[in-house]
Amino acid sequence: MALRSEFPTHKIWRDETPGRVRYVARSRYQGLSPHTVITPNVAELRDALAPVRGMGAGAAVCSPAEPNIARMYSYWLAGKDHYEADRAAADMILQRFPEVAEAARANRAFLSRAVRYAARHGIRQFLDIGSGLPASPNVHETARAVNAGARVVYVDRDPVVLAHARALLAVDDEVGVVAGDIGDPWFLADPALTHVIDSHKPVGLLLTSVLHFLPVAEADAAVATLRDWMPEGSYLVISAGTSTGTDPELIRCLQKAYGDTPVTARTAAEIEAWFAGLSLVRPGLVDVWAWRPDILGRRVFPRARILAGVGHKPKPQWTA
Ligand SMILES: C[S@@+](CC[C@H](N)C(=O)[O-])C[C@H]1O[C@@H](n2cnc3c(N)ncnc32)[C@H](O)[C@@H]1O
Repeated sequence: MALRSEFPTHKIWRDETPGRVRYVARSRYQGLSPHTVITPNVAELRDALAPVRGMGAGAAVCSPAEPNIARMYSYWLAGKDHYEADRAAADMILQRFPEVAEAARANRAFLSRAVRYAARHGIRQFLDIGSGLPASPNVHETARAVNAGARVVYVDRDPVVLAHARALLAVDDEVGVVAGDIGDPWFLADPALTHVIDSHKPVGLLLTSVLHFLPVAEADAAVATLRDWMPEGSYLVISAGTSTGTDPELIRCLQKAYGDTPVTARTAAEIEAWFAGLSLVRPGLVDVWAWRPDILGRRVFPRARILAGVGHKPKPQWTA
């Protein structure tokens, strides 16, 4: 739909039920007006969105006065890209659940181990969706330590992340930064992505610590689309907060901190279902710190569980 490129600040879709068609636009960013427009008429939708015409995805309103997912995560990782509002919200969670910062670091360490694993198994291109703020080591650094020519595209919907990523991560032509929302995978056709990623060759598809920010049905549909898109021989890397074993109070605290963004911790069985049709690399779906750890005997976080797994898309078996 042409409207999508005209208004990158909004997620736009056609909603069809028997006897009724309407168009919905929903802002990708907090604080942007109009936030949601629903109308049966495309011209009316265009008029309603007129105030944000010309705003690139990176130009959307993003207030440092409101806590932000990527910046709170950066704070827990001991990074430097956060404001007072992020620190206050992140500290409030740490007061009750101090293990959250360690769980965030364990998640980031899993990401590096999984990228190394895929790179050692021949993967030379990575698509990191919901990539977050730059954090050392970044995916292209880890991948290139194994395969010097590895190509990486970082995708995120947050303009702050995109601005930092464009400044720090896009180090050469073989690293790209693309605005996109997992729930709306048209970004797969973005020339900045297709210039770097060859969709006919195996890819390492990274969805770490992001799917729990999507509504349930949207996450399931997006993973299914991405899994179908992945060429044979690819690896799907997922980590996600789970409701299985996690203290429900922590999920409530996170939901409060993230405001409008849903926090949809899924059961272990639901997370495993995201790997349907793939073969799960050993040890399967496990706590994030327990996936092929570099050091044995790491701490567990029983109240703040993040599950992690890596699935391999098999090559087709031809029979005579
Ligand atoms: C907790 S950070 C995770 C960063 C990185 N993937 C990691 O595991 O270290 C979550 C990131 O996902 C992004 N995000 C959340 N929902 C998203 C969506 N629907 N589409 C794209 N990015 C999203 C946020 O902007 C944030 O940068």
